[in-house]
Amino acid sequence: MLLKTIRLRDRTPVTLRLMRPDDAPLLLDMHNRLSDASIYFRYLRYRIPTLEQLEKLAQMTPDVGVGIVASIETPTETIIGHAYYVIEADDRTSAEPAVLVEDQFQGRGLGRALLDILSQAAWEQGIEVFHALVHPSNEQLLGLVRRSGLPFQSKYAYGMHEVQVELDPALRG
Ligand SMILES: CC(C)(COP(=O)(O)OP(=O)(O)OC[C@H]1O[C@@H](n2cnc3c(N)ncnc32)[C@H](O)[C@@H]1OP(=O)(O)O)[C@@H](O)C(=O)NCCC(=O)NCCS
Repeated sequence: MLLKTIRLRDRTPVTLRLMRPDDAPLLLDMHNRLSDASIYFRYLRYRIPTLEQLEKLAQMTPDVGVGIVASIETPTETIIGHAYYVIEADDRTSAEPAVLVEDQFQGRGLGRALLDILSQAAWEQGIEVFHALVHPSNEQLLGLVRRSGLPFQSKYAYGMHEVQVELDPALRG
């Protein structure tokens, strides 16, 4: 399902759509193009998921969470960004998000667009809070959260930032 088409800061058109079960191979291709730094900041270790793990993720149903992919036509579809959230099993007003943009497309507004659409989808599903563990050197993600306009709290614990973002659009500054 097409959510929308956006243009990056350099005018590149990018399609944002819901993740589909058959996206796993294209998601793996994107992971294989990532720098070590992006892999580490995303997974907090230098290892990308396997095809089987991505297949399981891509088959996620809305009661578990929601995934979005960002793609360009090259001329076949190439996934260049990915974001999803997984709803807490014991507190369905809370979810853990993840956002990933391929290195050569970072810093052009795609992370912001993915986070916006993810926050909106989550709020519409009754989720009030995103919480995530963020590496303290991950200035891009911390900057992204700061610039989202949504209220957030950050607590330093065990060498990581525990970041909690409130999703109510009425609170957006
Ligand atoms: C974090 C990430 C998703 C951001 O995506 P992006 O497309 O580069 O972000 P955007 O271009 O939309 O930038 C949004 C805001 O983030 C901040 N930001 C982006 N790059 C930054 C940097 N290098 N330093 C500080 N702030 C930065 C800025 O505030 C920016 O807002 P502005 O453009 O209005 O100034 C991307 O860098 C990424 O995939 N990193 C690797 C994986 C990761 O860390 N994922 C998050 C953990 S799950």
